[in-house]
Amino acid sequence: MVSRVIPVDVFDLVVFGGTGDLARRKILPGLYIRFRAGQMPEESCIIGAARAEMTDEGYRAFVGAAIAEFVAKDKQDAAVIAKFLARLAYVSIDATGENGWAKLAGLVRKGVVRAFYFSVAPSLFGDLAERLHAHGMADPESRIVVEKPFGRDLASAKALNAVLAAHFDEGQIYRIDHYLGKETVQNLMAVRFANILFEPLWNAQYVDHVQITVAETVGVGGRGSYYDQSGAMRDMVQNHMMQLLCLIAMEPPYKFDPDAVRDEKLKVIRALDPVPPEDIVRGQYRGGPRKDGSGEPSYCEDAGDAQSRTESYIALKVKVSNWRWQGTPFYLRTGKKLRGRESEIAITFKEPPHSIFGDEEGWRENVLAIRLQPNEGMNLTVMIKEPGPGGMRLTEVPLDMSFAEALGDEGADIPDAYERLIMDVIRGNQTLFMRGDEVEAAWAWTDPIIQGWEARGDKPRGYDPGSSGPEDALMLLHRDGRRWREIRE
Ligand code: BG6
Repeated sequence: MVSRVIPVDVFDLVVFGGTGDLARRKILPGLYIRFRAGQMPEESCIIGAARAEMTDEGYRAFVGAAIAEFVAKDKQDAAVIAKFLARLAYVSIDATGENGWAKLAGLVRKGVVRAFYFSVAPSLFGDLAERLHAHGMADPESRIVVEKPFGRDLASAKALNAVLAAHFDEGQIYRIDHYLGKETVQNLMAVRFANILFEPLWNAQYVDHVQITVAETVGVGGRGSYYDQSGAMRDMVQNHMMQLLCLIAMEPPYKFDPDAVRDEKLKVIRALDPVPPEDIVRGQYRGGPRKDGSGEPSYCEDAGDAQSRTESYIALKVKVSNWRWQGTPFYLRTGKKLRGRESEIAITFKEPPHSIFGDEEGWRENVLAIRLQPNEGMNLTVMIKEPGPGGMRLTEVPLDMSFAEALGDEGADIPDAYERLIMDVIRGNQTLFMRGDEVEAAWAWTDPIIQGWEARGDKPRGYDPGSSGPEDALMLLHRDGRRWREIRE
């Protein structure tokens, strides 16, 4: 299969927070990869903007070091890196003052696509938007990219939307949820809407339940103070897991078009039932010995607060109240320091209405599991006859497909979410970005859940690092006669 890289238009991209962690790890290395692939035209420019004093040369050295650290060695070509770095400039800027703005306005060219990436604290969004406007850079051709967290509740998300809307139209605002940039997440739409096979069964009549798991092995060490204000519900469920749920549950959009897709996602979010306390399990990892015998900090130690009640794990039973899904629960779980790093969506289908084989012991439900990471692929379990004599005995076999194997080189070389999303910004395609009303609807569902446990003073349950989460999470499914799929190491 031949890769089709279509170059985007020439652009100027200003990265506010250009010396920050996200810029260093994702944005700049991602841009280099797109440059190397021939997708970023050579006349384009990237302008880092941050408070620190730095020369262009200093910034190029900074970005060169980021590429050396975060780009795979086999993609580091000295000549290409040198060309890429030559497209970089730096402006020392004060987001809340006047320093640097005139210089920036002089650097950003008219007549090319202009994108402004706000990789800064949300409290600065308003200042940046206002100054871009004041310095003539907020014209209809410009677009802004904003990172999560987009608010910490409905009120703050509304305030952020209002601040941005003062100077930019919704069509110019790109709210990033990097899960939507993951190749396999987009594949959820391809699997559902490009195959006739699944859609007729994709409803409460045939689907028993859905499990969405995003398990991580890392803790929150290093970003404990941010995370402690957030917790798994705000950090993962309100955004990433909500997006996965939407893509699985939504109706077919009439077209693969930004508003058509986002309208359908919004309908799912609005159809979510409130979640009662008994359908929520929150957990917090304990400290514990590592495999090498050394100690491992507990969540509270990582967060620097011995009394913290923030959850590093959450499991929820979610109901989508509409015709398609009435009666089919969606079980969501995500957590830090779990047994393995695994993100997966598993659709468990119902039993056939009648078994012509009688009470066959080996019988299992069909499960379609879509692996988002690692080893992206799909697995469908089907029942077949156990080979050999001895009558008609059934056995379960997997139809297992790894995208990397099935697609050869192209499948093995899956681009990082940020690469894809930044190119979409330049192309002006908002399909994989969250619209303002979508974010607000997600908070409107999330807020009462968080307020509920805060009002009750609920404490998260402890779980051991390397486990599958708190014991109570097992009960969430057991009491419905179901069980979680195994999180593999
Ligand atoms: C981020 C969260 O948005 O997503 C992190 O803030 C989390 O806490 C990360 O670790 C997970 O992303 P990925 O791409 O590694 O699954």
